[in-house]
Amino acid sequence: MITMKNFAAEDDPILREVAEPVQFPLSEEDEKLIEEMREFLINSQTPEIAEKYNLRPGVGVAAPQLGVSKQIFAIYLTEFDEDGNVTDVIIDEVFINPRILKHSVKKAALSEGEGCLSVPRSVPGLVPRPRRVTFEYQDIEGVFYEVKLSDYEAIVTQHEIDHLKGILFYDHINPEKPWEADDNTIVL
Ligand code: NI
Repeated sequence: MITMKNFAAEDDPILREVAEPVQFPLSEEDEKLIEEMREFLINSQTPEIAEKYNLRPGVGVAAPQLGVSKQIFAIYLTEFDEDGNVTDVIIDEVFINPRILKHSVKKAALSEGEGCLSVPRSVPGLVPRPRRVTFEYQDIEGVFYEVKLSDYEAIVTQHEIDHLKGILFYDHINPEKPWEADDNTIVL
């Protein structure tokens, strides 16, 4: 199973590479990685397991973070109660070869900033991203889908797509005024 020690260190150059497109049908290696990525996200959001294995909770993970420079990421986005137990699953999907087709000019940023499993410290500041995105991707069978997301779901997805382009969240933070939103940015 994947634990934090499987993550590439923050200064590993793989996190700054543009990841390779994935060929279909998937190799056994790719299938195994995808299964483990999904399992990791679920484990990381299951309090007893996360505590036992020292997992930082994560909503998304991208293959380059695990040392594999391929265009694959997984998202497991849930709602949970005050004990941290999952009450509803909003996105549970593996995204392969994603491509942003359209995005809004308006931007959104999370009021508390962003974090990343590859960055073992907090980097304060707003991370403005297009508020709405339309992108296409392939599922594990190679079938193409087009999805439109907004606000939190769009932010999470763009954070992961960035990993496939060698971009980290703090690249988007304004170094002079990290907590200042411009007129074009809504703070969520
Ligand atoms: Ni990340």
